[in-house]
Amino acid sequence: MKERLFLAQNTKNKIDDGKTTWSSPSNIALVKYWGKRDKQIPENASVSFTLNNCKTITTLTYSKKEDNSTFSFDVFLDGNKQDDFKPKIETFFKRITSYLSFLKDFHFKIETENTFPHSSGIASSASGMSALSACLMAIDKELNPEMSADFILKKTSFLARLGSGSACRSLEGDLVVWGTHNSIPESTNLFGVKFPFNTHNNFKNYQDTILLVDKGEKQVSSTIGHNLMHNHPFAQQRFTQANQNLEKITEILQNGNLDEFIALVESEALTLHAMMMTSMPYFILMKPNTLEIINKIWAFRKATNSKVCFTLDAGANVHVLYPEKEKNTVLQFIKNELVAYCQNGHYICDNIGKGLEQL
Ligand code: DP6
Repeated sequence: MKERLFLAQNTKNKIDDGKTTWSSPSNIALVKYWGKRDKQIPENASVSFTLNNCKTITTLTYSKKEDNSTFSFDVFLDGNKQDDFKPKIETFFKRITSYLSFLKDFHFKIETENTFPHSSGIASSASGMSALSACLMAIDKELNPEMSADFILKKTSFLARLGSGSACRSLEGDLVVWGTHNSIPESTNLFGVKFPFNTHNNFKNYQDTILLVDKGEKQVSSTIGHNLMHNHPFAQQRFTQANQNLEKITEILQNGNLDEFIALVESEALTLHAMMMTSMPYFILMKPNTLEIINKIWAFRKATNSKVCFTLDAGANVHVLYPEKEKNTVLQFIKNELVAYCQNGHYICDNIGKGLEQL
């Protein structure tokens, strides 16, 4: 599929105002996206579990305006005006302006809330940008009613990617692949596609308990981190490795081999952070408690033969991943041994979800 298929069309219908509300979840990558080219094109393919409970709910209210030379919008988080979100949304609008005909025709009120605390250190860009893209596509559909559901889903993911790369993987469950890859038919750098093979029962309703180790602002944003992969001494090896890992995990997700799953997922997490530590300038997003938790998970696994493992995103929080049938024992382990390393004892229980929902 080519980018130009998503370009704005001459609209069939006219609308003056309206309101639409969508909820979209966060996702957790198993094979990580770290490094991108211009226009939000990933350097390697990635795959993620879609989450269920960590969501953004966005209501977009739109009304026709006279002057259509500029963007006009206000953003509210939990009912409070949030002007510091505006530059990111302005950049997003600029990037997507050739794909939506109406962006300068309306004044938008963007009201957003997260089901997880804003100060949890959980990135809201994946859920936030995908929810906003879904709202915008609802308007696009009103203007162009003949678009198919499949096309709308692809274009929503295409737009979300231009807001935040990982956002393009949040629209559907259970697993979404983003990035052109030989093992995944129809995969593309332009939008996320549902993992096309049957996943083994071991991965059904997989659990993700997010341990909030550090709820502060990250010292280095993902966007800066991605950029540091340009001129990174290990960049090419990393992109090759990630693509090889995607090939391997495609098999693992079908054959259900949890030991291989653990080795691949934990290695991906540590490699992501190794890339940060070997960037110039270098940085470390893990905290001492991140390492304490990792060591406790390894000790628990050794002692009990549990299939629990961890992954990390670009921060200090730890995602504890485990099969549904270990839910009770692992939760007990978390309460007994890991909560002590969480800031104010906070953690969030999540599991695989279904993606976008219109409310
Ligand atoms: C470590 O999608 O937040 O979570 O495209 O610059 O918005 P931008 O970056 P972002 O990067 C996510 C990186 C990651 C890995 C992943 O989700 O694959």
